[in-house]
Amino acid sequence: MPKPHQDPGAPALLQDLRAGTATLHVALEKRLPFFSEQLDAAWYRRLIQAYYGFYQPLEAALQASGLIPPGYDPAQRRKTPALAGDLQALGLDPTSIDALPRCEQLPALSHPGACLGTLYVLEGATLGGQILRREMAQRLDLNEDNGGAFLDVYGAATGRRWKDFLDYLGRMPEDASARQQVVSAAQSTFACFERWLDSREVLL
Ligand code: HEM
Repeated sequence: MPKPHQDPGAPALLQDLRAGTATLHVALEKRLPFFSEQLDAAWYRRLIQAYYGFYQPLEAALQASGLIPPGYDPAQRRKTPALAGDLQALGLDPTSIDALPRCEQLPALSHPGACLGTLYVLEGATLGGQILRREMAQRLDLNEDNGGAFLDVYGAATGRRWKDFLDYLGRMPEDASARQQVVSAAQSTFACFERWLDSREVLL
């Protein structure tokens, strides 16, 4: 769980992002069923279907926007392929995956700052994924080959890739109004994701 204001040496933008999203992170974390006694294979599969229904259109919209600030390679950081692979491993054929419901109320990606805020949320989620991966391995016997690849999407490179992302974030404009736009987009990304997961009835 991120703790805001813990690293006073961090760039202002990162500090603002942490402070602006910590509450939303805690709220969503509490409602995700990964640590619930009731989580079984069927619920996990519905959860990954719902993740796919958010990540697929969002990653496509990020790419199509053409507004991601230079220095970030979306092709190298896409998580949709891992989700699609997990769904196949969990028994869905490609036609069923294509037919899954997709979120239509995505965060707005109308300027570079908005893309940045959304990317912060998607990249940060790979950190918690490491904890969830271990939990799902223990409780549902999941690994990268049988439906748990998304939770370990960057594998051993998770820490380095997060650090690279933070370096990238550190090169972005630091004025207060630009920072506020990035934070708003990150907040909106958390809110849209939670609303979507709720509508798919996969949350606690
Ligand atoms: C039960 C589910 C989750 C758990 C247990 C969890 C746990 C964590 C943990 C432990 C960290 C800090 C890692 C570190 O500092 O090394 C973290 C960071 C983060 N997580 Fe989660 N997480 C969960 C779900 C999510 C989801 C669904 C999202 C967004 C879609 C998300 C977004 C983030 C972000 C943006 C950060 C980075 C915070 C920073 O700036 O350091 N997390 N998470």
